Amino acid sequence: MSSVDSQQRVLSGMRPTGKLHLGHYHGVLKNWVKLQHEFECFFFVADWHALTTHYEDPSVIKESVWDMVIDWLASGVNPGSATLFIQSRVPEHAELHLLLSMITPLGWLERVPTYKDQIEKLREKDLATYGFLGYPLLQSADILTYRAGRVPVGADQVSHIEITRELARRFNHIYGREPGFEEQAESAIVKMGKKNAKLYRSLKRRYQEEGDMEALDTARALLKEQQNISLGDRERLYGYIEGGGKVILPEPKALLTPESKLPGLDGQKMSKSYNNTIGLREDPDSVAAKVRKMPTDPQRVRRTDPGEPEKCPVWGLHKAYSDNEVQEWVQSGCRSAGIGCLDCKKPVIDAIVEEQRPLHERAREYEGNPDLVRSIIDEGCEQARDAARGTLEEVRAVMGLQYR
Ligand code: TRP
Ligand code: SF4
Repeated sequence: MSSVDSQQRVLSGMRPTGKLHLGHYHGVLKNWVKLQHEFECFFFVADWHALTTHYEDPSVIKESVWDMVIDWLASGVNPGSATLFIQSRVPEHAELHLLLSMITPLGWLERVPTYKDQIEKLREKDLATYGFLGYPLLQSADILTYRAGRVPVGADQVSHIEITRELARRFNHIYGREPGFEEQAESAIVKMGKKNAKLYRSLKRRYQEEGDMEALDTARALLKEQQNISLGDRERLYGYIEGGGKVILPEPKALLTPESKLPGLDGQKMSKSYNNTIGLREDPDSVAAKVRKMPTDPQRVRRTDPGEPEKCPVWGLHKAYSDNEVQEWVQSGCRSAGIGCLDCKKPVIDAIVEEQRPLHERAREYEGNPDLVRSIIDEGCEQARDAARGTLEEVRAVMGLQYR
């Protein structure tokens, strides 16, 4: 915790393995844009993560990194509000990954549900590697490097946050118990002054004896506002409330990102592997061509055949983009054969193009100025490293590596 307010800090990453599409925009990026105003956000390009599955042909990583950053910026992720960086430019992630590996039971990694799933799913790749097994641990290191309290992820990633929590607990348990911990914690309590000391003790008792979560929160808030105690003491007292040692690595919580409601061109979830995507920065003509080619209700062979929107992927897009009035026009026009499918697709095309207009505008500025993008990332990497260094210094120290 140190000087970091973990509850205010958000970290998330994205793998650079291809172009982003509107599914990413509706699912992940709009959420990031919202979070950047509410929290201290760190967003990074997870290039090492991409290597765990693309080590044989890493060219896609290199090709995707800058495009992805431009996609973020185009979506409204603002480098003035959030810190944007590239994982491999902050070597502290790798160091923490290594150090955490010392205390990570193999069984924890083997039991992560995505491990066996992915090996099955990506059978054309040989994923029987050390790097792939360790990928959730690398993710834990990403999060714990910044002591981020909140991690926006999709449902498929929740087990990785869970393992991160377990690792943080294990780490604090092993390394947070310095000799004389209790004595130091007790004397830190005294330093808060009589009134606060008494309050802290009673909250600690209420939490430990009655499991009162509110008391836990209040005690944490009390510690946060103390001016008279050192950072080390504050960490001791955070851990001491719960009856543990010092909290060196705080446990993060998953901020579940709701699934994007935007279906792909065939009505399934929008995904590169289904080949049904609309690019985040796709040009308007190409958007129009793709939507015009979309399959419709197979019963509507001729213009005069009535159709059923529920059986048509275009209706899925209307649900995402159209207001009630247009939706009613589609429903009745389709079922009565009053409108043709191309008429029906027109408002969808217009809505997508309209949505993308500001994205294109922002992107143009960056596409024409690669140096600007690079300098945004340079600065983000610097800021990220500053944050990462503090954690690693402390981790090295408690692990007995402080002799440099
Ligand atoms: N593993 C995530 C994914 O595949 C990306 C990721 C890497 C990440 N490190 C992270 C997400 C840390 C959140 C926090 O989508
Ligand atoms: Fe689909 Fe619209 Fe054609 Fe009906 S009119 S089948 S909803 S595209």
